[in-house]
Amino acid sequence: MEGVLAEWLPSSEIAPQRLHEAMRYAVLGGGKRVRPLLAFAAGEVTGADPERVQHAAAAVELIHAYSLVHDDMPAMDDDALRRGKPTVHVEFDEATALLVGDALQSLAFEILTSGPLADDAATQLKMVQLLAQASGSRGMAGGQAIDLASVGKPLDLTELEFMHIHKTGALIRAAVLLGAHCGRGPEAATGALDHYAKCIGLAFQVVDDVLDAEAPTATLGKTAGKDAANNKPTYVSLLGAARARDLALELRADAHAALDKLAVPADRLRQLADFVVERTF
Ligand code: IPE
Ligand code: IPE
Ligand code: MG
Ligand code: MG
Ligand code: MG
Repeated sequence: MEGVLAEWLPSSEIAPQRLHEAMRYAVLGGGKRVRPLLAFAAGEVTGADPERVQHAAAAVELIHAYSLVHDDMPAMDDDALRRGKPTVHVEFDEATALLVGDALQSLAFEILTSGPLADDAATQLKMVQLLAQASGSRGMAGGQAIDLASVGKPLDLTELEFMHIHKTGALIRAAVLLGAHCGRGPEAATGALDHYAKCIGLAFQVVDDVLDAEAPTATLGKTAGKDAANNKPTYVSLLGAARARDLALELRADAHAALDKLAVPADRLRQLADFVVERTF
């Protein structure tokens, strides 16, 4: 994945050098790569060619990286540290950070459409639509809008779940579904796999909320305690850390149960569900 991303990102020798340098800075040399791992694991379940999956995985990771660059900007969470380094707007400048996000988003769709990734063109078209919806106003960007509009507001559990499903769950779901679509047809990506994806997508942000409250900056690679400092409603502010952790464990059990319905073992997807709830960073 690192090699694929490094190859698709324009060289910082090519004009505009500073933008390309900032794009590479935002994407390379950090991050858990959970979404690419999920795409590969889902592709394994549907018998996908890893050569295809790596394009789908890179596309999702680029959208994710763009979302982080914008999420950290002063108008949003105003964070100075990401993946153990100064955030893009701190290391470069705000206008560059905006453009990095714009350009990474475009590059994601360029990669997703740069070769055959599915058995037929109609499936690939569906994949483009999936990623567009997961990133847009009814997906990640919409979730981020709700997040910003919720500062200082005590959301109830339904509202908080709606926000988390959109800002984080949508792109994680897309990673699983896109990986699956590279293999044996889209039908393999509905039902059990989709349910798995939704459970771990929500669990991922529940755990992110817990870690923000409990883990130190040094292990997180981002500023700890930022949600409370920014007055954000989170699973920790609503339920407390212990009940939030319990919820993440329930979601993992639900995700595992969904995998039991598949005809194949799906060990890697199972391990990734474990990682999502047990991770410490
Ligand atoms: C952080 O995502 C932002 C959320 C959507 C919760 P990750 O925890 O996957 O961040 P990286 O990619 O590992 O840095
Ligand atoms: C991140 O939510 C959601 C997106 C970036 C889309 P957070 O604001 O909680 O993510 P971190 O904690 O800054 O990584
Ligand atoms: Mg945020
Ligand atoms: Mg943030
Ligand atoms: Mg967070």
